[in-house]
Amino acid sequence: MNASNLQWFPGHMTKTKRQIADDLKRVDLVVELVDARLPLASRNPMLNEMIGQKPRILVMNKADMADEEKNRAFIDAFKAQGIHTLLVNSNSGEGLNQFTQLVNQALAEKLARAKEKGMRYIPRLMIVGIPNVGKSTLINRLAGRKSMKTGDRPGVTRSKQWIKLQNGYELLDTPGVLWPKFGDPEVALLLAFTGAIRDEVTDMEELACLLLKRLRVHYADALCARYQLDELAEDDYDLLEQIGRKRGCLQSGNRVNTERAAAILLDEFRGAKLGRITLENPEVK
Ligand code: G4P
Repeated sequence: MNASNLQWFPGHMTKTKRQIADDLKRVDLVVELVDARLPLASRNPMLNEMIGQKPRILVMNKADMADEEKNRAFIDAFKAQGIHTLLVNSNSGEGLNQFTQLVNQALAEKLARAKEKGMRYIPRLMIVGIPNVGKSTLINRLAGRKSMKTGDRPGVTRSKQWIKLQNGYELLDTPGVLWPKFGDPEVALLLAFTGAIRDEVTDMEELACLLLKRLRVHYADALCARYQLDELAEDDYDLLEQIGRKRGCLQSGNRVNTERAAAILLDEFRGAKLGRITLENPEVK
């Protein structure tokens, strides 16, 4: 799980921080994008330091893949912390009808001041988040365009442009790409489950077993339903074998090819084939 560290060596982080700091000077509000399946692990705590007092909204993306009950619990928990929070599906646009209202709430003071002075004020926004949370998808959705890959590699600079949104506000067309939170093995693991950290560096069978360990606690029914199991084996590796057997991942001697079973499980989890699953609880720190 260390390759993400390689992608984000300290020089990249410094450069990224500078770039985001530079962009921050030009915007009125930051849209912090997280993955609703792991709304805490997909945040980068450094952002608070970078943003300072600048208005911010938190957008929980991929709501369609996350547990509905936990979506509500997280929204409540973030709101209780005074964070303007919105739940969206950037693929379909669901939830985005509340976007302007939330931005206006976060910018209430500035908007009121401009109104008082009779000044025309066009808020400028930027989106930030770690890789794979859906930044490009959200930008394209807000811009009303089909697809265009926005710059997503640290250190790759190109000229920035403003996208005019339907509400008249302006959005920076390039997102701020934050590095994932390192150092906490639990966070790294959660990011690896969703594929936000690359697989080549991870032992897939171990990763699959660790995912099963978590899924069996709250989502045992989903596992039983997806893999047509009457009962879940107590040991995680045995359970992986059970799944492999059901899926015909067999090799010589009628043994289960657990590597293939692991790939299937991870793939299906990432594709939300097991249903809507959230991997964290809102113990908001
Ligand atoms: P990034 O810029 O933050 O790195 O993320 P990006 O927009 O590239 O999105 C990463 C993946 O997440 C994409 O899938 C995208 O379609 C998917 N995605 C983004 N928002 C949502 C959402 O709200 N719901 C769901 N279900 N998926 C979302 P991909 O498989 O990498 O590519 P593709 O299937 O779009 O080709």
